This record gives sequence, C-alpha cells and structure tokens, in this order.
Amino acid sequence: MPGDKSISHRSIMLGALAVGETRVSGLLEGEDVLATAAAMRAMGAQVERIGDGEWLIHGVGVGALLQPEAPLDMGNSGTSTRLLMGLVASHAIETRFFGDASLSKRPMGRVIEPLSQMGAAFEASEGANGSKTLPLTVRGANPAVPIEYRLPVASAQVKSAVLLAGLNTPGITTVIEPVPTRDHSERMLRGFGAELDVEEAGGERVIRIRGEAELRPQTIAVPGDPSSAAFFLVAALVVPGSELTIENVGLNPTRAGIVEVLRQMGGDITEINRREVGGEPVADLLVRHSALKGIAVDPAIAPSMIDEFPALFVAASLAEGTTVTTGLEELRVKESDRITAMAEALALAGARVRETEDGLIVEGTGGALLAGGGPVTTHLDHRIAMSLAVAGLASRDGVEVDDTRPIATSFPQFEALLDEVTR
Ligand code: S3P
Repeated sequence: MPGDKSISHRSIMLGALAVGETRVSGLLEGEDVLATAAAMRAMGAQVERIGDGEWLIHGVGVGALLQPEAPLDMGNSGTSTRLLMGLVASHAIETRFFGDASLSKRPMGRVIEPLSQMGAAFEASEGANGSKTLPLTVRGANPAVPIEYRLPVASAQVKSAVLLAGLNTPGITTVIEPVPTRDHSERMLRGFGAELDVEEAGGERVIRIRGEAELRPQTIAVPGDPSSAAFFLVAALVVPGSELTIENVGLNPTRAGIVEVLRQMGGDITEINRREVGGEPVADLLVRHSALKGIAVDPAIAPSMIDEFPALFVAASLAEGTTVTTGLEELRVKESDRITAMAEALALAGARVRETEDGLIVEGTGGALLAGGGPVTTHLDHRIAMSLAVAGLASRDGVEVDDTRPIATSFPQFEALLDEVTR
C-alpha cells in the first residue's frame, strides 16, 4: 500500500517547521499531498523529491514561515486547506486559499471559528445555507492567543488546525475531544519534540500543546494507508475465489475501524507480521473471499473509519441480509455528499440501497453478483470512483465510472494495482 495520506501531509508540514533536514520515505505522492508540498515551498521551506516516495525537507522554523507570493491552490484537498489555515493563523501572513469545485463547497466555518478566537481574521466566500467556503483569505495573528477549544464535530482536521496554530502561539493551547479522532498529529508533534500531552478526563481526550515550540528535524517512514487498503480488502472479500495479501497496512486504532466491521460481517482477515513503522502500528493483511452477513454498524466506530464507508457500502451490497448505518452526517461534507453519491451509484450498479438522513440501509445480494451498469457519477470524489470500481469486480456486466481522474488525489497506483491482482 502507498503511504498514508494523513501522515504524509503532516510529515511535510512539520518538516517545513523544523530547522534542518527532515527525510521522509514512503511519502504518498498523490495530488493532495503535492498541494501541501507546493504550499510549504511557497511559504519558504525547501521540499524536494529525491526518489520514489523519498523526500528531503529543509524547514524554516516555527514562526518563520513566509508570506506566499500568490494564492495557495489546495486542489481537492480538505486536509491541506484546514491544517494550513491553522499554520497560517498564528504567523504574520496574509494569504488566499482556493480549490476545485468539490473543495469550494466544503464547510470551512469549523476551522474559522476556533482560529478567529485565536486572533486570526478571515474573509470567506458564502456557500449553501450560509456556510463559509473557499476561496478565502486568512490574516494570521502574531502573537496569537492560546485557547481552550472543545470540538463540536468529531474532526481530526479541526483538532489539527488548532494544534498547529498552537505551535506558534505563546502559552498552552488546549483541544478537548469528546469523541476520539485520528491521532497522527499528536504522535508526530511529539516525535518532532513538541511539548504535547494527552489526558483522558471524564471520557474526553484533553490535548495540550505548549507554543513557541522548537521542532527537531526527523527521519520519518510513512506507513501504508488503511483507507487505500480498504478497497482491496473489500474486493478480496466479495470476489469469489480471492485470496490476497495486502502489505504494509497502517493499523493505528483511530483508523482501523473498517477491519473490525468487516470481521463482524464475517470477513476472513488475518494480520501477519505486526510491526511498527514511523511510530504507528502496521501489519500485512491476508484476506480471503468470505460469505459476508449484514449488520447494524455501531455509530461509535464511525470516526475510526470515516473515509471507509463508501467501500463498506459495497461490501454490504454483496452481503447476506441488511446492513444499517447511522450517525454518518459527516459523510455529507466530504469530497462529495457520500451518502447520496453512494446511494445513487450503487442503485445504478444494481444494489438495493435506501438513503436516510444519516446513513444508508443496504439489502445485500447474499453473494450473488450485482447486475452492474452505469455510468455512475464520481462527483470529483476519489473514494466514490474506487468504491464503484470494486463493485464492478463483483458485477455481471461491470460498472462504468464516469470520471476516474480524482483517484490520483489519494491513490495514483490504484488502477495498475487493481489490474495486477485481477489478472
Ligand atoms: C483527515 C481527517 C478526516 C478525513 C480526511 C483526513 C486528516 O477529516 O476524512 O480524509 O488527515 O486529519 P475530518 O477531520 O473532516 O473528519
């Protein structure tokens, strides 16, 4: 599996803030991560590709980012946008962020709110229902004001935006997480030498970071992306006769929900060679075709598999019985509205699905192939395209996907790998 997208973004950002040379191997060279690399270059860091997934970064130091000369192009990447808004918020920088049609619809109020409390100023565009969207201009505050912020939505991007702003803010910035989300920022900030502590209090995670930090350059090996692995996991489970080993799958507990849910459905998934890569748990997964059963997915597990629901819906379409998902409102504000987009696409592919306000109810075929069909609409969303490609493998006539270009944002090797394992 190619490098983890979340960890790749963070390794470039933190490398760019540490004085000296950070070396990264296994970096995901997808368009989203390249947008982060270009932005950090525009703010003064040297970010250089020296080989396949091998990158060298010469950072400028916390507090020393430069004002970019041109607006920052975030492409399709919500993670680049929200985390970089956090970085800029506590630097004496004024800059504009813009992105593609999908990113320009996504809500930015969730980061503007806490970063404004820290002193940054924003001029944002107005989206549907009065939401704040790209293009937007951020004027950072220097010095910024430390805050204590309880996350109103379970979002690692909002958490990370505040922590990254806190890096260059005097004193202690605190984020309280009622529901745990992916903790790559916390792990990596610690790895780079930031003073960061995490306490469990009354069922919540309280994360404190001391600002005006000095980061030390690191050598980072990026583990493989479980969100990319999810497509191959589901493909092997639903295509009769499959046996597939997926190497190098990151299994950080805040990301591994999909493996647990597929096992609850009866998926035959064995971990081999558990090890640690870049401070994160990793294993190879041996996956065999399985007779899956529909289940009610516990909404509490959603944050640890938030990007994997499109793939799960495909698995559910081929399971025996009904799969019910709830509590997935956040899926409506991803690269596309993934509840509606998957309901429409799976219906065209011959699956039986019903959309609810906060999830999908899927009646599986009990293992029989889907009819197939299409063309299904990707809506500039890489994960819709990859999920329906997997559905196509388990269909009689194949599934036609209207636009596969978005796949390059997170998984440029997807089509070649899929060809290789299905040959
Ligand atoms: C990410 C957090 C998640 C996830 C996204 C990557 C991150 O978004 O969907 O693909 O790297 O922090 P939210 O923070 O909006 O849940």
